[in-house]
This record gives sequence, C-alpha cells and structure tokens, in this order.
Amino acid sequence: MCGIVGYVGSAGVGDKSVDVLLGGLKRLEYRGYDSAGVAVIGADGTLDSRKRAGKLQVLVDDLEADPLRDGQTGIGHTRWATHGGPTDENAHPHLADDGKLALIHNGIIENFSELKAELLAEGVEFLSETDSEVAAHLVARAYRSTGDLAEALRTVVARLDGAFTLLVVHADQPGVVVGARRNSPLVIGLGDGENFLGSDVAAFVAHTRRAMSIGQDQLVTIRPDSVEVVGFDGLPVETSEFEIDWDASAADKGGWSSFMAKEISEEPEAVAKTLLGRVSGGGVHLSELDGVADRLATVDRVIVIACGTAAYAGILGKYAIEQWARVPVEVELAHEFRYRDPVLDEKTLVVSISQSGETMDTLMAVKYAREQGAQVLSICNTQGSTIPRESDAVIYTHAGPEVAVASTKAFLAQGTALFLLGLHLAGLRGTLSTDEIADQVADLQAIPEKIERVLESSERIRTLAGWMADTRSVLFLGRHVGYPIALEGALKLKELAYIHAEGFAAGELKHGPIALIEPGQIVFVIVPSPRDPRSLHPKVVSNIQEIRARGARVIAIAEEGDAAVLPFADEVLHIPLAAPLFESLLAVVPLHVFGMELAAAKGLDVDQPRNLAKSVTVE
Ligand code: G6P
Repeated sequence: MCGIVGYVGSAGVGDKSVDVLLGGLKRLEYRGYDSAGVAVIGADGTLDSRKRAGKLQVLVDDLEADPLRDGQTGIGHTRWATHGGPTDENAHPHLADDGKLALIHNGIIENFSELKAELLAEGVEFLSETDSEVAAHLVARAYRSTGDLAEALRTVVARLDGAFTLLVVHADQPGVVVGARRNSPLVIGLGDGENFLGSDVAAFVAHTRRAMSIGQDQLVTIRPDSVEVVGFDGLPVETSEFEIDWDASAADKGGWSSFMAKEISEEPEAVAKTLLGRVSGGGVHLSELDGVADRLATVDRVIVIACGTAAYAGILGKYAIEQWARVPVEVELAHEFRYRDPVLDEKTLVVSISQSGETMDTLMAVKYAREQGAQVLSICNTQGSTIPRESDAVIYTHAGPEVAVASTKAFLAQGTALFLLGLHLAGLRGTLSTDEIADQVADLQAIPEKIERVLESSERIRTLAGWMADTRSVLFLGRHVGYPIALEGALKLKELAYIHAEGFAAGELKHGPIALIEPGQIVFVIVPSPRDPRSLHPKVVSNIQEIRARGARVIAIAEEGDAAVLPFADEVLHIPLAAPLFESLLAVVPLHVFGMELAAAKGLDVDQPRNLAKSVTVE
C-alpha cells in the first residue's frame, strides 16, 4: 500500500530530486497502488508538483512531456485508494499554503471528518475527497504561526487519530523534508551529502546501503548533511543505524519475464539462505534468540499470528512445533486474534510471521500481545520494518526482496524458519535427542537441492496451465502438512488468476466439499508419502478414488516412485522424497508455478494482481 519517498541533496549532487523520487517509487511499485505523484522544490525556490491516476508510467510520461522545475528537495508517493477514488485530484501530494506546502500520507486519519469541518469553517478550500488533505492544511496553518516545519508537524500529529506516515516539504524551507510516523512504515537512508526517507529500504537501496530505523510516534527532519529524530513529545530519541543486506540488483527482474518468475526460481535459495549460519554440526543455532532463551524454555503455549500466505506457513509451524517440542500451538489470523479477547500471559509465546514486517493487522496483534504480557518472537523478511522493532526477538528470513505482490519464496523461507524454531524449542525443552535433531537438520539441509529438482517440471506445469486457461473453479485437497499447502495453492489461484479456488483438508471431503465435485471439476491432491508413519497415504488415495468416481479430473502431487496414485490420477507431478514435514516445502512449489502460469495463460499481470497490495498497511 502507499509508497513514500523523500529526498534532500546538497548543491554538489545536482538537481536530481525528480529522478531519485521516481526511481524510489518504481522500486516501491510492488506495494500496490493506483496513482502516483511528486512534489519538488526547484532550484528557483518554488514548489512544483504533478500527480496522476494510474500506473507510474502515466506520471513518468507526463513529466517527460512537461518537466518540473527540478531541485534537490522533494517527496514522492504512490497511492492505494482508501478515502476517495483513484483520481488525479485524490492522488498525493496535497498542497496547502497557496501551493507552497506539499504533503504525502500513508495510512488512515480516522478523525478527519471533524478536522475537515473545523477547517471548512475557517474557509479552507478542499480539492480532494481524501483524509490526507486535512493534514496538509493543518500543517500549513501551524507553520504560518510557528515558521518551523518540524514543530508545525509535531503539533498536528498530536491531533490525529489513526495510523500515518506523513512527509512534508515547504518552498520556504529548501533542503528540508520532515516526516512523522505512527503505526505506519518509514525508514531513513543515509547518503553522502544527501539523505532519504522511504516506506522501506527498497526506496533508496540504489543510492545507499546505510539506513536508520525510526520508531513509532517519532518525527524526523532530514537535510543534506544531517538527520534529526525526536519523539512526538519533542525530546530527542536514540536512533540505530544498520547496513542493508539486499543489493539494488536483487530487486530487479534480472532477465525474467516477471518478478514472480524470478522469485519462484529463487525458492531453493530462500530456504538455503534462511538456513545459512543457523545449522552446523547437526545442531540448530539461533543466536538471535539467546536473549529470550530462559523464557522460551518455559513457555506453555504458542500462538502463531499472521495474515495471508504467512498464516499458512504458520500452520506448518504448528505441526512441527507440536510434534517436536510438545507445546500446544494455535494459529490465528492476526485480525481475528486481536479483537476476540484472547487469554495470554507471560508463559505464552506469540510468534508473528510477516514478509514485509508492516502488515497492520499483524503489527497491531503484536502490540496487543505484548501489552497482555506475552512475549513476541517475529519471523520477518524485511530489515528496518516495524514488526521486528515491536517484538522481543526476531528471526529474519533471508529470502531477499520479494517484489511480486503475491508471496511465493517468502512462504518457503517462513516455513524453514518455523522448522528451525521447532527444532530449537525441542532442543531447549529436551523433547528431541541430539541425534533426532541432527537427522532433521540433515533432511532440511537437503531441501534446497530438491526444490531445484521440482522446478525442473515447470515446463510441464506451464503446458497444464495452458490447457486450463478457461477453468472457472479449482479445488485443492491435502492432509497433515498437505492441508496448509492446499490452502496456499488455492490462495495463489485466487490472487493471481482470479479463479474461484478452495483448499480443503482431505479428511473433510466427505463432510461437505464432495458435493462440489461434478464431471470435469479440477482437483489438485497433495498426496502424503507412502512412507508416512501415520498411514495417511492410503486414506488420501481413497479420497482420489472418491472424487474420480464422480468425474473429477485429478492432478496429484506425489512422491517419486509412488505407484499407488498412478491409476487414479489424470496427471501426477512428482516431488523428491523428503521427511514428512519437509515434503510441504516441495509440494508447494508446483502450486506456485501453476498459479503463475495460469495467470500468464489468461494474459494477467502476475506481479500486480488487481485490488491487492503487497504490504497492507491499513486495517
Ligand atoms: C498481502 C499480500 C499477501 C501476503 C499478506 C501478508 O495480503 O498480498 O501475499 O501474504 O499480505 O503479508 P506479510 O508481509 O505480512 O507477510
């Protein structure tokens, strides 16, 4: 959702703010947006801005045809509409103070109506239907009385309810961008004679790998040679610098037809990098959890909270942690968790999972859990994001930047991190022996190479997807860890190909879903290994027969050498042998490829599906 970029450079770096802002917005495109705009303070000291509904290219073309008066100070924004439709007028920046002040906003100002009424009564004219424009006029009014932009913003944030990141520039203050954040993302990029602000580090990683986080309820002022951070109370706060470990090229397509194609190809690496430095000598070493080791050893319950794909990864975590560490685990959608008055105490470990580290529902659930006394461990893929800052400990997944809106490689990295956590807890609690842990670790280390092998069947999946381009409904069945994989397969089809798709626990088939089966219905079945100690394999093979008898077309994802499914499936996609829990990380891969290929066969934009945002930063 909304992407934000701010830039200030010194005279020596040239008038390049428009390029920096558009480059940053391009890298933030993945967040999802429907309009874009920039405002710059030109070398002549005037503020100039442009905003357009539609793709960023519409704005770029417009600026090429009619360039802004460029300078060294500016702000840029991609908007994902909440209040007011995606029109030129509602796009940001919003201007105030006779066009001398420009403001951009991410989030929702919940009390905007009463603030707007107050401004209307004073005769202020509004040009948009947004909540954000209210903030622009309020800051302008405060600036007129203080002459200090940061102070003006500080007085205004005290009156705002809701979540926001705000950036403001004023023509009278060239070389200054001020920002404020509450429950909405903002990171600082530290350059040489220039500084940056961004919704995430992708906004400025092409210019600098030095970054600084900024906490909740804090204000920042960047100038070419300085960065100042204060709390909403006006007092200075401590800041910490960090090095961005992504490089700019990692966020490029690198010759692939889409970011999603590239990201699926990186699934083996996402697992390997998440394991890197954390498994050796047959043991699991999560040094990032050292500070909470005592509390981890005594937890009596785990609650996993997440949204979307991350929540399905959470179900893998439940199965692994319960089996290995013998602690009860619940998995809950973050937005449901927070509002149902859950029972939590200091012996509850809440594990949040988020690729972006910014999902508002997950963030709010994390805060809530900590307020209730639970300890929160977060699994996150994005350095400098908000959720890790709000947590007691964090395990970073090292999937690299994920740009396509629908999550793929991050799911595998999240599953891997949860498996590591499960083994770590089992070690701490003594529920698995050293040898048992070493066996699991060896199996897990073999997974990246096995995913490579699964990806070799991508061409065949593309052909299958081509045949199914007109399909209107697809069902997915799985059991044990195959169940969350079925949910994930269905979610990918909904997100990418806009096809009705449902994932079911195979055991539930006879309790309802079987009524959906009619001749020609396509059903993917994730078949557990015939070696599975729980003897789930014959049960799922029976399910396949039941749906085949009713005319369904079955595509089975089964272990290499599994002869039992061959007579009953229309197609079998084979995956290499793996330990029962880790099969999930293999079975999901063809489903990711299938979702992408079916969307491509329908001529859809696989990287930016309609209506979706990668980082859902409003509730
Ligand atoms: C959005 C994305 C999904 C993602 C979910 C959770 O809905 O479209 O792909 O799974 O957010 O995102 P997170 O960044 O918290 O993992």
